[in-house]
Amino acid sequence: MKEQNTKPNLDTCMDYFYKGSKDVFKKAYDFVEADMIRQLNIYPYYQTIDYNEGPKCIIEGKEVIMLGSNNYLGLTTHPEVRQAAMDAINEYGTSLTGSRLLNGTHKLHLKLEEDLAAFFNKESCLVFSTGYQANIGVLSALISKSNLLIMDKMDHASIYDGYKVSRGDVISFKHNDMEDLDNVLASADKDVGKLIMVDGVFSMEGDVAKLDDLVALKQKYNTRLVVDDAHGVGVIGPGGRGTAHHYGLQDHVDLIVGTFSKSLASVGGFVVGNYKVVDFIKHYGRSIVFSASIPPASTAAANKALDILKREPERVERVQENSRYMRENLVSHGFDVGGSETPIVPIVVGNEILALTLWRELLDLGVYVNSVVYPAVPRDRAVLRTSYTSEHKREDLDKALEALVTLKKKHGF
Ligand SMILES: Cc1ncc(COP(=O)(O)O)c(C=O)c1O
Repeated sequence: MKEQNTKPNLDTCMDYFYKGSKDVFKKAYDFVEADMIRQLNIYPYYQTIDYNEGPKCIIEGKEVIMLGSNNYLGLTTHPEVRQAAMDAINEYGTSLTGSRLLNGTHKLHLKLEEDLAAFFNKESCLVFSTGYQANIGVLSALISKSNLLIMDKMDHASIYDGYKVSRGDVISFKHNDMEDLDNVLASADKDVGKLIMVDGVFSMEGDVAKLDDLVALKQKYNTRLVVDDAHGVGVIGPGGRGTAHHYGLQDHVDLIVGTFSKSLASVGGFVVGNYKVVDFIKHYGRSIVFSASIPPASTAAANKALDILKREPERVERVQENSRYMRENLVSHGFDVGGSETPIVPIVVGNEILALTLWRELLDLGVYVNSVVYPAVPRDRAVLRTSYTSEHKREDLDKALEALVTLKKKHGF
């Protein structure tokens, strides 16, 4: 079937099957897939992780090599990050109990905003409670009626959802396909305000947005450009400054969105950019106005992780080196890792049941990965998403590789 490059399908198959059903719970009672997979003991979701140290973790009472996190710089258990969170709780309590707008803004937020704006060399920053909410806030504020959001088909779900809470229109282009984007832009209404939004590093594929082409097209068609760099910050670009800096094009990217839940060892999100635009999002972003602010402990932890990133840029080199090592070895053993260029290295398995079975068998061999199936990836392209940190040791990477090679031979994928 020819891939369409028009409005992305935002409905789920549930919407189609249960249209007109008289009981909204019917779909829940009919939902059997998870139970079937649980019975086969290959259900990979909501797995309890008793302790996650970064490169290793404890699951089902056993130490396993962690290849399934976004803890790229291994900072979640760093003594200074822990201490910063504890100090913030001791000094300011556990919650601010309200939205930034009314009663939830704290001096720790302002300090972190100042540090992030300086780190990315942008005028202004706004901190949110999650990365997801950062995208909701940006798009709900900026995409108003008669505006057009133009997004990569493989953008993160929070960008799809950001569109849904906006009042504008949306069109998607084929993943990282600049010719298709050119066609989309050429056929769009010239009088409509447009915003192109892409992931800097794509969360499932581990490839990098073609920012040089994106900037050229932004200029050709006079649009705005936003990069969600959740997986780029701390991972690529000089000092871990992410995709825009990796290309040296930070002055041409209007807004950079990011999260604290990956390299920055906490939870929360941010947007950096021009003062007037950030100030507008501050007043019109629904997720910042109508949701409680990020607590002191999470804010302080993210700020400390940022300090460590600035102080120890060698962590960025190490995460890149570990990823390169694994990517090259996986390829040399015949694994299909798609277009990965970053610490996110998917291993294409194809069949969904096989991807779930491999997840279980790898765990039994002491390796934790993420099994990713439809709708996060196309139906016939289930993957094992592996990801690497600066703190992985070579011997553990070799052990993980050995387990993967063993299972590759067993199942012949
Ligand atoms: C590209 C991208 N954007 C946004 C988010 C949301 O970030 P958070 O989990 O911090 O809410 C994610 C999380 O996986 C992501 O991968």
